[in-house]
Amino acid sequence: MGTTPRHRALSLEAIQPLLRTKTFGRTLYLLEETPSTNSEALRLAQEGASDGTTVVAERQTAGRGRLGRQWYSPPGENLYCSVLLRQTPLSGRMAEWLSWVPLTSAIAAAHASQELSKVRVALKWPNDLLVGTQKMGGILCESGGSGSNGLFVVVGIGLNVNTPAEGFPEELRVLATSLTMATGTTIDRNALLASLLNQLETWQLLLLTNGPPAVSGEYTALCVTLGQRILATLASGESVRGLAEAIGSDGSLRIRLDHQPNAFPGTDHIAVRDAEVTHLRRI
Ligand code: BTN
Repeated sequence: MGTTPRHRALSLEAIQPLLRTKTFGRTLYLLEETPSTNSEALRLAQEGASDGTTVVAERQTAGRGRLGRQWYSPPGENLYCSVLLRQTPLSGRMAEWLSWVPLTSAIAAAHASQELSKVRVALKWPNDLLVGTQKMGGILCESGGSGSNGLFVVVGIGLNVNTPAEGFPEELRVLATSLTMATGTTIDRNALLASLLNQLETWQLLLLTNGPPAVSGEYTALCVTLGQRILATLASGESVRGLAEAIGSDGSLRIRLDHQPNAFPGTDHIAVRDAEVTHLRRI
């Protein structure tokens, strides 16, 4: 008798025939357990691993999220995946490229998740994946190396795939969701991973070749933060409230402020790059 579908393991044999990529996932490390696939991919990058090298694990013991948070990473249910990007633009375009890599990865992850689940997956700025109002996935990009020759980026993607509602720790239950919770079915993680790598290569190539204008339209279409009243907690710790109006050419979020805080005299708009956003309920 076979194992139940929820616990069907990730396997190279199941993933590889579904890949349509040139480099992404062509070197694929499939680990039973690792502290963090991002840490492992960063280590491989330092050792000279090639563009598109991918690390996937069934379980992370120290999965990392944005803003120093932990990423809940139980075994056998979800996807924890890190992809090494070594192809970078010319140095004059480096800064804008770096700020759009995470947003572009979010587009790819949303498309792959929608393809496999048929549920609507939206984005909360900058790169949270939402089903309804709850978080289904997230992205953590980390860079290393130096100069235009040696610089690399690791794109780390965590997707809550087959974790049931009761599988989340108490404190995450109101915030988090999974594709199985949204669909009532078990999602094929091997097919989802292949789709994720296919989408990621397509969208990252578009960004690299044609720049942010080639991806910003799709990002804006998926981003449900735009047009909402939000609370943004800035890197400084200060919080501002306002209307999320637009995405800047550098991937920043333009906010029309409700009040003029002391920290921003003489302006009714700010553009934030590194902030935690909460969508405020409409009343
Ligand atoms: C977030 O906080 O929203 C980002 C979460 C990113 C989690 C993924 S899981 C795979 C990769 N390895 C990590 O340690 N983190 C990322």
